[in-house]
Amino acid sequence: MLKGKKIVLGVTGGIAVYKAVDLVSRLRKQGCEVRVVMTEHAQQFVTPLTFKEISGNQVAVSMWTANQEFNVEHIALANWADVFVVAPATANIIAKMAYGLADDLLSTTLLAAQAPIIVCPAMNTGMFENPATQENIAKLQSRGVTVMPPAVGVLACGTSGAGRLPEPPQIVEFISDFFAKREGDMRGLKVLVTAAGTREPIDPVRFVGNRSSGKMGYAVAQMAAERGADVLLVSGPSALTPPANVRTIKVETTNEMLEACLAAYPEMDIVIKAAAVADYRPRDVADQKIKKKTDDALTVVMDKNPDILKTLGAAKTHQVLVGFAAETQNLIDNARDKVVKKNLDMIVANDVTAAGAGFNADTNIVKFLFADGAIQSLDCLPKTEVAQRILNEALRIKSERK
Ligand code: CTP
Repeated sequence: MLKGKKIVLGVTGGIAVYKAVDLVSRLRKQGCEVRVVMTEHAQQFVTPLTFKEISGNQVAVSMWTANQEFNVEHIALANWADVFVVAPATANIIAKMAYGLADDLLSTTLLAAQAPIIVCPAMNTGMFENPATQENIAKLQSRGVTVMPPAVGVLACGTSGAGRLPEPPQIVEFISDFFAKREGDMRGLKVLVTAAGTREPIDPVRFVGNRSSGKMGYAVAQMAAERGADVLLVSGPSALTPPANVRTIKVETTNEMLEACLAAYPEMDIVIKAAAVADYRPRDVADQKIKKKTDDALTVVMDKNPDILKTLGAAKTHQVLVGFAAETQNLIDNARDKVVKKNLDMIVANDVTAAGAGFNADTNIVKFLFADGAIQSLDCLPKTEVAQRILNEALRIKSERK
């Protein structure tokens, strides 16, 4: 996604400046051309020379030093960029951007920028949470600036306090996803996503269900639609609102989900089965509410449900098939077993008992296991970001198959 992209990186003065050096190096490895603009405060942490060596370009630092390359430097840089990234972005530059101040080279260039802007805030938690900063961020977002959420403590799971600059690989991925969305890299593809848990009725008022919220599947559906795919979401009951531009079929039971998936399957390019499917259903569903009996125990006999994913795996022709594995133990072994048994191209394995993962959480910690035996471990990430990574991999598998 990033090959050949022209990126202007604005670096402001915070302790995280050192990460910006790594960021430039990684962006270049992805094939980007990077030009760095540093504020005076940023130069207190790292010298322009470091960025010059890493970026392979002159570093812009002042309105008043002539640059041989550009005539009017801030205007030239503003016009040159495909995207303008500010990382780390201090509370100060965010406030200046919000109010349109232009009192140094970076703020002036940002004000003149024609390209989209991505801001990566990095500051102390108190400063980040201060209503002034939050209002400024909201103001920027309302004008179309993309804001990458800062990392929290030791990364989202556990310690509170947002404000850390995310690690450079995550910023690279974020920028790549940004371009993926803009350029609609999934245009023309048909994607089936299943989400939430299925429910099996016992009587008219009771059911057997599970704790799935649908957040992971809805995030996948939303991101695929934003990237231009034609998305069909088959969802069990969920409190979430289906994403815009996504066709949604609401189902209740495993058999209903199977039927909806089988009907759509032949025309699909990518299938992502995030639903938590009920493996069993009560054999007899009572017509009327079951009344309390004198016995202390109630026995409900359950019959096995069809395995939707396995059925799709057996019928696979051209589709890229991605499953999920929710495990509480032996994550890798159990997940690998499912890849083989269900004829998957990839499985997203998560230990649902880990902090920051599993049902109802906004983040997830997953591993990708591929049909060829490769494994990729991801950090604790927002489910929307996990969704992007899943789509990136599904696209890669699809393109390698051609
Ligand atoms: N799945 C399915 N139909 C089922 C059960 C699971 O399509 N009847 C799919 C899920 O949507 C998920 C994957 O299979 O993508 C793995 O689900 P999981 O519940 O982790 O595994 P199971 O195959 O049910 O095995 P077990 O419960 O023994 O771990």
